[in-house]
Amino acid sequence: MSVKKVFVLFASPNKSGYTKMLLDAFTHFAPENAVIETAYLYDVLPQPCTDCRVCKLENTCIFRDLDGIFDKMQSADLVLIATPVYHYNVPSPLKAVFDRMQRFFEAYIVRKEERQRQTEGIGVLLTVSGRKATEPVKLIQKQADKAFNLLGIRLSGSVHMPETDTRVDKEALKQAEDLGREIFENN
Ligand SMILES: Cc1cc2nc3c(=O)[nH]c(=O)nc-3n(C[C@H](O)[C@H](O)[C@H](O)COP(=O)(O)O)c2cc1C
Repeated sequence: MSVKKVFVLFASPNKSGYTKMLLDAFTHFAPENAVIETAYLYDVLPQPCTDCRVCKLENTCIFRDLDGIFDKMQSADLVLIATPVYHYNVPSPLKAVFDRMQRFFEAYIVRKEERQRQTEGIGVLLTVSGRKATEPVKLIQKQADKAFNLLGIRLSGSVHMPETDTRVDKEALKQAEDLGREIFENN
């Protein structure tokens, strides 16, 4: 497989902050023919899940605002989650996306319906935080892993850039560049 379609869930309200810096490092070695599409979740402002129970019966949602995002997550070769740490967790628009994926838990895990995805996708998590945030990052890795799994995507790597309050961690930028290069060259 060659990684051509890349879809980014971008969870910072700052389109040119540290999250973007880390994302740019990751995509630095993307081939010219790769198509990278980004969903800015602070523009989307996903509806939060209201536990209406509709998805317990059918793989659908009473809110349609994430239909396009979920389609792209299921058709992209590589899905990136790029997010800052907010209050020991992810910012609320990304948390809303994770909650809204309950429909896939009901469909694929509980009812064992066939997934839309035919081939396993590659998932990558990029996180940034003002302080060290070691524990929150572990939690976010778990959340991303579970969310990716629901759609048949394997969390294949993650990079964290800590301490943005006081410095730019060049080592993290290098790690992101290396991970990007490895994924784009070997898949
Ligand atoms: C509402 C809010 C909550 C935050 N909570 C945390 C936190 O719990 N731990 C932490 O290390 N940094 C926290 N930060 C700092 C951000 O993670 C940090 O500034 C990050 O670089 C922002 O990324 P950006 O430049 O892409 O927007 C918080 C920032 C905001 C605005």
